[in-house]
Amino acid sequence: MMSQPARLEPGVNSPDLSLRIRLPHPAPPALLVLLAVGMLLAACLSPQLEHPQAQNPEFVNGHLVAQNRLLIPPLLAPHMENGEKVFDLTVGPGEAEIFPGKITKILSYNGMYPGPTIRAHAGDRVRLNITNTLEETTTVHWHGMELPAAMDGGPHQVIGPGGSWQPYWTINNQAATLWYHPHTMGKTAEQVYRGLSGFFIIDDENSDSLALPREYGVDDIPLVVQDKLFDPDGQFIYVHEHRVITAGLLGDSILVNGTYAPYIEAPAKLIRLRLLNGSAARRYNFGFSDNCTFHLIATDGGLLEAPVEQTRLLLSPGERAEILVDLSNLKEPIRLMSYVFTDGENAVQNAIQEQLAGGTDEGQQFQILELRPKTGTFVSEQIPKVLNTIEHLDENVVLKTRRFVLEAFTINSKMMDHERIDEVVRTGATEIWEVENNSPIYHGFHVHGIQFWVLDRNGMTPPVSEQGWKDTVTVTPQETVRLIMKFLEYSDPNLPYMFHCHNLTHEDMGMMGQFVVVDEPSGQAQIQSPPDGIKQGDHAGHQN
Ligand code: C2O
Ligand code: CU
Repeated sequence: MMSQPARLEPGVNSPDLSLRIRLPHPAPPALLVLLAVGMLLAACLSPQLEHPQAQNPEFVNGHLVAQNRLLIPPLLAPHMENGEKVFDLTVGPGEAEIFPGKITKILSYNGMYPGPTIRAHAGDRVRLNITNTLEETTTVHWHGMELPAAMDGGPHQVIGPGGSWQPYWTINNQAATLWYHPHTMGKTAEQVYRGLSGFFIIDDENSDSLALPREYGVDDIPLVVQDKLFDPDGQFIYVHEHRVITAGLLGDSILVNGTYAPYIEAPAKLIRLRLLNGSAARRYNFGFSDNCTFHLIATDGGLLEAPVEQTRLLLSPGERAEILVDLSNLKEPIRLMSYVFTDGENAVQNAIQEQLAGGTDEGQQFQILELRPKTGTFVSEQIPKVLNTIEHLDENVVLKTRRFVLEAFTINSKMMDHERIDEVVRTGATEIWEVENNSPIYHGFHVHGIQFWVLDRNGMTPPVSEQGWKDTVTVTPQETVRLIMKFLEYSDPNLPYMFHCHNLTHEDMGMMGQFVVVDEPSGQAQIQSPPDGIKQGDHAGHQN
């Protein structure tokens, strides 16, 4: 259970607990489809369809006074067993005091929201000892992790009520900020939304040797940012009806590490923030209230070759970034913000969102976290000029190019089918995946079990902020993004990995496909997956 020592000042800081949703409840899907078609037509007929919020950004939580100390998820201590680091994780119901005096029902890992931070080193052998005490099925997926499909925790590795699962693998990733969350067919968005997410941080020899802030929770701070809707009792509202409209659920309250209206006291020096967009659908355009320059040092899957100066950073759901912010000359607190941004062609989405959900992610500004510099003497620090050595993948050895067309809400016109393998990939192959967004709304493309590199966006070199290892990438309307990736040596003809839109609402609607990685791509892939909920009781993850 969380404790929030600070108290709310009545009237100043109370969240807007009134329902913002103007959707008929429940809305007949046919009506929504009609509406959507109508809006589409309107958009086509009037190309200048106005984006009202671009001119008049809505500062959604401008009234908020930061007064709750940011919760730092504790590190989960492993025990050693036969040379393995064993971590115990229990998925179960829980409670959190997000608003003083109110108990919010949550789903939790080890009783907490967010879950405890798992930390391991490249080369470590890890085992996760997972028990599900929920009355519903769940899975635990290691987002960004390079590992055998059987250990991936996708929709095939179900853990039924009362069941358990013990995946194990050797850490192959380089130093990176990864995360874990459920991947239950049709229920991912809701289970994540209700509290199931946690960090999985990886260190390696390179990161050990760099002069970077590294004191967990002090100057090296994990931040999972999630938007929520609350009812007047402080309970999460999860609106299934948002699935049939465009963006998915957008909340008007922001939680950082499960903390509402948070602040953190940080040493007045260079600090490192590990940002994770753990929201279902909302993108954040991060920046600071004093407009200071910060340094991006890592993308989803690892450290960049060199730090990149930025003043804004857009993260879609599932994406991570590590940034360095210099607090050494600050006398006053500053705020991490999410600013208004534009997505080009999004007039249609905006119009539909405006009508049905009362806002868009693009048009809304939020304060996210107040950073209060602590007084004291701190030596000014240099940011290392070289962060990583990256072996770039070679376009000349590409074995196959595959094309994925994203529509609303399918991939290559198909919806997820448990029994259908969409792609068969050879172990060790270098491939290009060409992802085209042929819909009027943004999608975030995520591939399991691998880290890729963005080759180009509409034929242009991606911004430097994207020139690093990635596992999730934003694809805006009418954009084609080419990804290059080299598949690992984890062959399994029977168990697939997923690729999908990481807008979790879209994923749950079926915007997902499956691929197997095999030594011999000629053989017929045979899916071995029990139907949802059957794999109960003790079940050890196994390879081959
Ligand atoms: Cu973060 Cu397939 O998921
Ligand atoms: Cu999508």
